Amino acid sequence: MKESLLQALDGLETQLEEALAQAQSESDLLQIKGRFLGKKGELAQVLSAMGRLSAEERPQVGVKANQVKEALCSRLQSSLQGFQQKVLDQALASDHFDITLPGVPVEFSSMHPLIQVLEEINTLFRRLGFEVRYGPEIEDEYHNFEALNIPEDHPARDEQDTFYLKTGRLLRTHTSTVQIRVMETEKPPIKMIAPGTVYRSDHDLTHSPMFHQVEGLWVDRGIHFGHLKGVLKLFVKSFFGSETNLRFRASYFPFTEPSAELDVSCVFCHAKKSACPVCKDTGWLEVLGCGMVDPNVFEKVGLDPQVYSGFAFGMGVERMAMLKLGIPDLRLFFENDLRFLKQF
Ligand code: PHE
Repeated sequence: MKESLLQALDGLETQLEEALAQAQSESDLLQIKGRFLGKKGELAQVLSAMGRLSAEERPQVGVKANQVKEALCSRLQSSLQGFQQKVLDQALASDHFDITLPGVPVEFSSMHPLIQVLEEINTLFRRLGFEVRYGPEIEDEYHNFEALNIPEDHPARDEQDTFYLKTGRLLRTHTSTVQIRVMETEKPPIKMIAPGTVYRSDHDLTHSPMFHQVEGLWVDRGIHFGHLKGVLKLFVKSFFGSETNLRFRASYFPFTEPSAELDVSCVFCHAKKSACPVCKDTGWLEVLGCGMVDPNVFEKVGLDPQVYSGFAFGMGVERMAMLKLGIPDLRLFFENDLRFLKQF
């Protein structure tokens, strides 16, 4: 009995070697491990037969069984490591990677030219003490027209110019709405600009149904046309260059009186007037509308026109950007062609 058990134990190591020689993968190894070391495996069978040995034979077989168990375990372990190393070596050989290759360049985005110009306008006015204010793009007729002294029969209210919503509201046609909203709730001094998106039912080479404006408003005691001229002169010379000249042309807006249109000397031909396609040889470019706040507007917002006065202006950001950056076509701003956008 004892002899046959010892013999069986001796045989296990050789059998394991034979089995390992056949193994192809880690999962084959696990199966082999079960066959030799599992609950009903080869070793367990020998151990269960030990119960039938005599008291002095049992330790002799027991010692041998432990030695064999350890040998089987360490052999299986080293075989497992061998397989894992092989898998790793294969992966390294097939996925080899040249650290001297140049990297893939990271593509940087840039700010849209309109936003760049808008930021510059904001910065210049902030420097002059104007605060940036915002208002809603969906407005009511009161803030877009009525409070700005635009009467019911004014052509600007026509559905051909204004996008009306089913609710009776509308998409604001200018940023002058923000003047009203601020003056309704705050007491002068008010010194603000309002950049934002505006909408008009207009679509052709030089008009987009969505565009951007920057409104300006300065209201306080004793503000007069000289303030308007001074502020806009500083702005224009910083924005277009100190050599730029300005002229104010009398104009009309329902919400300002007197009103003016501001022209700057042509930034392309520098008023040389030699076949300039931009100023059409007039030497001047129209850049914004402005004027002194109409007393009717002050009354609408509950400010006393006897006490307060102020000026307002409104400019188109697309136009300013086209003139500043020499962009010939308005549509380029909205096509998102990277070849165009990357130039700025
Ligand atoms: N809101 C006017 C427009 O959209 C511009 C403007 C603003 C004119 C303020 C005068 C004063 O054309």
